[in-house]
Amino acid sequence: MQKLFLLSLLIFLVWACDNSSHAYKTHKHLVTDTAMVVSAHPYASKIGVKIMKQGGNAVDALVATNFALAVVYPRAGNLGGGGFMIIRTPEGEATTLDFRETAPAKAHKNLYLDKQGQVVKGLSRNGGLAVGVPGTVAGLYTAWQKYGRIKDWAVLLKPAIDLAEQGFPVSEAEAHRLNKYKNDFLKWNPDNKTFIKDRWLAGDYLVQPNLAKTLKIIAQKGPKGFYEGPVAQAIVKKVVKSGGIINMDDLKQYQTKFRKPIEVSYKNYKVISMPPPSSGGIALGQLLKIVARYPLKKWGFHSYKTSHLMVEAEKRVYADRAKYLGDSDFYPVPVDTLLSEAYLIKRMSDFSMKKATPSTDIFPGQFQFHKESFETTHISIVDSDRMAVSCTTTLNSNYGSKVIVDGYGFFLNNEMDDFSAKPGVPNQFGLIGAEANAIAPHKRMLSSMTPTIVTKDHEVFMVLGTPGGSTIITSVFQSILNVIDFDMNMYDAVQAKRFHHQFLPDYIMFEKNTFSHKVADQLKQAGHQLKQIKYIGIVKAILVKDGQLEGAGDTRNKDDDVEGY
Ligand code: GLY
Repeated sequence: MQKLFLLSLLIFLVWACDNSSHAYKTHKHLVTDTAMVVSAHPYASKIGVKIMKQGGNAVDALVATNFALAVVYPRAGNLGGGGFMIIRTPEGEATTLDFRETAPAKAHKNLYLDKQGQVVKGLSRNGGLAVGVPGTVAGLYTAWQKYGRIKDWAVLLKPAIDLAEQGFPVSEAEAHRLNKYKNDFLKWNPDNKTFIKDRWLAGDYLVQPNLAKTLKIIAQKGPKGFYEGPVAQAIVKKVVKSGGIINMDDLKQYQTKFRKPIEVSYKNYKVISMPPPSSGGIALGQLLKIVARYPLKKWGFHSYKTSHLMVEAEKRVYADRAKYLGDSDFYPVPVDTLLSEAYLIKRMSDFSMKKATPSTDIFPGQFQFHKESFETTHISIVDSDRMAVSCTTTLNSNYGSKVIVDGYGFFLNNEMDDFSAKPGVPNQFGLIGAEANAIAPHKRMLSSMTPTIVTKDHEVFMVLGTPGGSTIITSVFQSILNVIDFDMNMYDAVQAKRFHHQFLPDYIMFEKNTFSHKVADQLKQAGHQLKQIKYIGIVKAILVKDGQLEGAGDTRNKDDDVEGY
């Protein structure tokens, strides 16, 4: 009996050791002097740091980290998606690069409506028709061409190629998702052997020979290897086979755009963020400018007054987002007005410290909120010359449209769902839109991605961003306030509990233990509805203070990792 017990114990110990041996070692908090990368995966963060140690700057590191994420973080890291980045040079010049997906030429306003004018469920979220023309490969190349220091582009892809070819042990979170979406993968890619198997376990090796082949083509030919030739043909073939409308010209004509950042002063700081087609910079700027008029620090962190004010500001800002924001190349977004003091004072004129303003009084509209899974990912980098890059990129949902390009091994986005399919009908994040964000050929869909850099006295102070769909903006907003108003270090600011209101649905989403019982009761008495959700945002941030870099990954994602030296 005793022997049997000892044998069982031995088997258990061997299993336990084996099972933990693939657990990644991650840093959620690190302080260094020279350079730093924070990303959603330790392999990717390490690659970014290695590139900087080899003489690369923050942009080189960003490119290599992003390609690595496309391999080790397939649910959001991507070749088949798009994103935005803010770059601030050591000389203090800031610019933004828009590599957001575009609507195909054959897209039109009623693309997702049936003959009765109703939105056909799922059409903008799964399969070929959900796919926007990808921007990531062009975006990374454009950034490197203008700002990179490493001469050989292929050097930046080599680590990702090695990971794709040799494979790597998947994390628990990735294994869980690969299992969760297996039926969707099967629906669109019945013959795929790379991502589909009976059951994924943490530590199983994901080997991606097809993706390695694609990366090698991009390494050799640059974006032409993706937007023209066999890879482009394979994209078009698979999209069309899956019900979509992207053609070869859509891919060939894809263009990235440098855009002037949204810059807003907040106390002694300058906040630099993304202009349309992201709503992030405008919404973040509006929120900061509204709360700047109130004594948050005196009121205290997560006090009734502070939380109520932030929520009431968020309702108004998200209502503005729904009505006025879209791709400014197609629609005259009133950027200056939305950010003007006079407008924001007027916007808050019906704000009462005692009671919640119902969203129906701010902007009419009723609907059901269908929350689906979504994934985006963010990278924050600072290099030894204090060049800073803040980059958020996405496939939209986990694994995007779930459509994999046959023979080339990468997922395509479902970013078309970020358009307003019909005025007032919510997308997967519960966000509504109007004419400003209606579908049109070549137009970019409105985003919430908010890559941000904060400066103080003309020096980089904070670099941050997060995934989280509609909650991206409020997660960045809270992380900034936590440092500037509530004196937290970067790590505490990132781990602090979060809440979120987006105008509709009319309730405060909050993480467990955000509010004390007393504050929760006060909020309810004021007329707010509260709804607990699992987590809000997964912020990745770097604080530059007293000559040091303090990096924070978010404990909400086990794989978040800070690396630096
Ligand atoms: N796809 C999420 C966003 O761009 O906001």
